[in-house]
Amino acid sequence: MPFNTIEWIKGKIKIIDQTQLPHKLKYLYCEDIETLREAISSLRVRGAPALGIAGALGVLLGVRNSPVKDYPELKKEIEKIITYLGSSRPTAVNLFWGLRRMLNCAEKNKDKDIKTIKNLLEREALQIIEEDKACNRLIGKNGASLINDGDTILTHCNAGALATADYGTALGIIYKAKEEGKRVKVYVDETRPLLQGARLTTWELMQEGIETILICDNTAGEVMREKKISKVLVGADRVAANGDVANKIGTYTLAVLAKENKIPFYIACPISTIDFSLPGGEKIPIEERSASEVREFLGRKIAPHVKVYNLAFDVTPAEYITGIITEKGIYKPPYKESLKELNNEKRDRSYSS
Ligand code: MRU
Repeated sequence: MPFNTIEWIKGKIKIIDQTQLPHKLKYLYCEDIETLREAISSLRVRGAPALGIAGALGVLLGVRNSPVKDYPELKKEIEKIITYLGSSRPTAVNLFWGLRRMLNCAEKNKDKDIKTIKNLLEREALQIIEEDKACNRLIGKNGASLINDGDTILTHCNAGALATADYGTALGIIYKAKEEGKRVKVYVDETRPLLQGARLTTWELMQEGIETILICDNTAGEVMREKKISKVLVGADRVAANGDVANKIGTYTLAVLAKENKIPFYIACPISTIDFSLPGGEKIPIEERSASEVREFLGRKIAPHVKVYNLAFDVTPAEYITGIITEKGIYKPPYKESLKELNNEKRDRSYSS
């Protein structure tokens, strides 16, 4: 990818301001956590794995110059940052994962002096970025094994390089399939109301030379019925232990349509997106966003007179999902069992932090 979605540059968080795409590739430097929180809330930086990185870098940014003298003070400071940044977007579990991983890192090193702990926090945040890059390539490799030459894939929202440190999850699979010499065509849902599909996914895919066709969200059913789609491939914001998946609003609709049309429906995500603490999807907190995102379009008031219900995500029940593609492999139903096994394995190896 010819760009970095989010990075740490000389004590600042540098992000692509995704609200400006595809017109301008503009960067925003966050020098304080207030600017970062605004960037997260307004989707200047977005997508589950990128939010995990933003959370981790946010802790680093927040504590870097704070005058704390000992570990209890540092811990309090980190917890304050976690509460503040964690309240910005509730659905993507990676945000909380990234924040908590920083607290765990500090906790593990609490006997060291403050300067050393701060240095270790910087190392941890940078490691999260590198791990995400490696993880996306493994998801790409695992997922590409499912892609056939000539496949036409339907995707929703943006689960690409712009939603991660780079390469992406669902889109990473498409990039890898192309690298393997397979011809792949992609239909992209617009993804109302904020148009991540139209603005971001098409921009990304076309830079990679992938044939891209933009459709209105409500065209998805018809293109499936016309047998134009061989697979649906999307990302995830949070996966429950039973395989229910929260992802961008409209994903559930696609899953039902895919089942009706006998089209495989795949989720691609890192294991950090699986929330093993939640037995089922009904407990996933779903973000409700401002009515103005629906009442207005490109700054014009379209329906200022009406009540709005603007859910940012929906939950797709596990029964609609053909497979969950992760860096460790492809998990199949019954997810209660396959994900349980993964969780046990994860515990045994006691994942780093
Ligand atoms: O509201 P957004 O743009 O942050 O929503 C993003 C998605 O729904 C993505 O599909 C998801 O985070 C997966 S990103 C690899």
